Amino acid sequence: MTYYVTTPIYYVNAKPHLGHAYTTIVCDSLTRFHRLIGDDSFMLTGTDEHGDKIAEAAAREGCSPQVYVNYISSSFQFAWPKFSVQYDDFIRTTEERHKTAVSRFMNLVSERGDIYFGEYGGLYCVGCERFYTEKELENGLCPDHKTPPKYIAEKNYFFRMGKYQDWLIDHIKKNPDFIQPERYKNEVLSFLSEPLEDLCVSRPKSRLSWGIDIPFDHNFVTYVWFDALINYITALGWPDGEKFPRYWPSAEHVVAKDILKPHAIFWPIMLHSAGLPVYKRLNVHGYWRMEESKMSKSVGNVVDIFTLREEFGSDAIRYFLMREMNFGLDSEFSRERVLERHNADLANDFGNLWQRSATMLHKYLGGVVPATALREIAADPAWSAQLSSLIGEYKENFLRVRPQEALKKVWEFVGSLNKLIDSEAPWALARAEETRPRLQIVMATLIKGLAVIGALASPVAPRTGAELWRRLGLDPGRITLDLAEIDAGLSRGQVVEVGDPFFLRAEREDKGKKTPAPPKAKAPQAPPEGPAPEIDFAEFKRLDLKIGEILEAEPVPKSDKLLKLKVSLGAEERTIVAGIKKYFEPAELVGQRLLVVANLAPRELMGLKSHGMVLCASGEGTLAILNPSRPLPPGSPVS
Ligand code: MSP
Repeated sequence: MTYYVTTPIYYVNAKPHLGHAYTTIVCDSLTRFHRLIGDDSFMLTGTDEHGDKIAEAAAREGCSPQVYVNYISSSFQFAWPKFSVQYDDFIRTTEERHKTAVSRFMNLVSERGDIYFGEYGGLYCVGCERFYTEKELENGLCPDHKTPPKYIAEKNYFFRMGKYQDWLIDHIKKNPDFIQPERYKNEVLSFLSEPLEDLCVSRPKSRLSWGIDIPFDHNFVTYVWFDALINYITALGWPDGEKFPRYWPSAEHVVAKDILKPHAIFWPIMLHSAGLPVYKRLNVHGYWRMEESKMSKSVGNVVDIFTLREEFGSDAIRYFLMREMNFGLDSEFSRERVLERHNADLANDFGNLWQRSATMLHKYLGGVVPATALREIAADPAWSAQLSSLIGEYKENFLRVRPQEALKKVWEFVGSLNKLIDSEAPWALARAEETRPRLQIVMATLIKGLAVIGALASPVAPRTGAELWRRLGLDPGRITLDLAEIDAGLSRGQVVEVGDPFFLRAEREDKGKKTPAPPKAKAPQAPPEGPAPEIDFAEFKRLDLKIGEILEAEPVPKSDKLLKLKVSLGAEERTIVAGIKKYFEPAELVGQRLLVVANLAPRELMGLKSHGMVLCASGEGTLAILNPSRPLPPGSPVS
């Protein structure tokens, strides 16, 4: 089977925040789940870079729209890998491939007689990039932005949406899964019970030039929503690419309810008018709210995802987001809630299960999974039934895009294994010869259960899943749900590695004062007390500071502190050996920009020559690499 999933393409008028991260992580988890069950899967994300609000934001920043969109788009591309998001393509609507697809699409729809020239006057919200009817406004204000819309009247091109209204109603009714959850399908049907107005699909260049030209009239650019929706097929190489016939029939979009109408009404009608099959399913979720209000840049209550990640780690944030929000409904966000889930589900339930099981395996059975007991439990119908029902329910929930339910099932299983330890008391079973066979069964059950948990958790917590499999001596690159294969991998006589706790309990905030999480490794030395001696400017100028970009990062063999970095300084590449291994995964460093002392005398560390030094800040028991606030090219001077 194939699987194609898309996030909305995000506007580049704001940097990525928790709301964007949620949708993107849902899509990444779904893609990883589909890969786990063997589907040929493809995930798309990207940025929506045209339209009034982008042009206005660029003007506010005092730069050209293209410079502005390049800068913000890169912050999305930078963010997602930090949350283990592995998209297959990142599309930008200012790319040539997209402009070509939009022109072809527009011509096609026009050839079908579905575009006409006319005049329209209406109330327009720049924030939403759309016209509102009086009825849709709340006290005369845009319901999302709480700002008054502007009255705009002008000549434009229109798309005959009304013509396809009955077809769309029929399609939604015949395909009950087309829009889910059900409440959003009903909302769309209720909207469609009123006559559908035609859609204005152009903007005169005299008012706005930041867009894709209408191919048959260069005095106009394409309305941003008409341009943006087409991204979903541009990325598959429509009309000629091989990916289009391969993935499009299985296309699923994931969006929040703010953009239900363009996705549930405009887009299927656009596709139908162009003679293309419509997407398979639209999955609509609710809002993350802060103190009862939708989290959004315009309200100014967005949560900084990097601060959260710093404190809890990417897997914990992913787990929290997927577990806490009931897909389709709104959810209230607070650090306290993250902390509760982190401590209860991850540090306690999951962490203790692993630590107790692995430690007891070492204490009582030399760290090796008992192969005979593993075969015995595999033949036990009750245990097999428990595992197949768990996996069955998990799959069913993921297929219906209910990640919260899938995870709930997995954590119920975690709870049942913790209970098994309490009720069987392996420490007591280990005391007598006649209870040793039972001990072996219990330990085999725990370890096999943990391997299954690692696999089931891996779409949402990929680092944890992979690390758990590695500690069990299983190949993390080949995580599978095939129980027989897991058994075979577990009974090769390898010694299970206990390792450090996966999640350390985080502390509560004390009277609004943040208490840092316990350090993950020994804190770097604090600088000596008292102010450093004064230096003059000439002394400071002796430092040659430059922006660098990490091209490669790898551990230095036999060192627990050092990483070997290949750093680009623009004109040259340097090898720099840095004592930062305890604080960073090599993979997360690649692509990061940082500050380098370029004229430090070379020195040898563990047999490697280091040419320069990377600058880090230390505190709260950890290190932070200093990134430039804009992604300036490597080699840029620092002063
Ligand atoms: N550019 C359009 C989408 C075009 S798709 C062809 C757009 N961009 S956006 O930057 O405003 O992103 C909106 C999306 O971001 C929502 O649909 C949702 O996926 C995500 N979210 C933004 N804020 C959110 C919350 N507070 N809560 C949940 N999701 C949020 O609309």
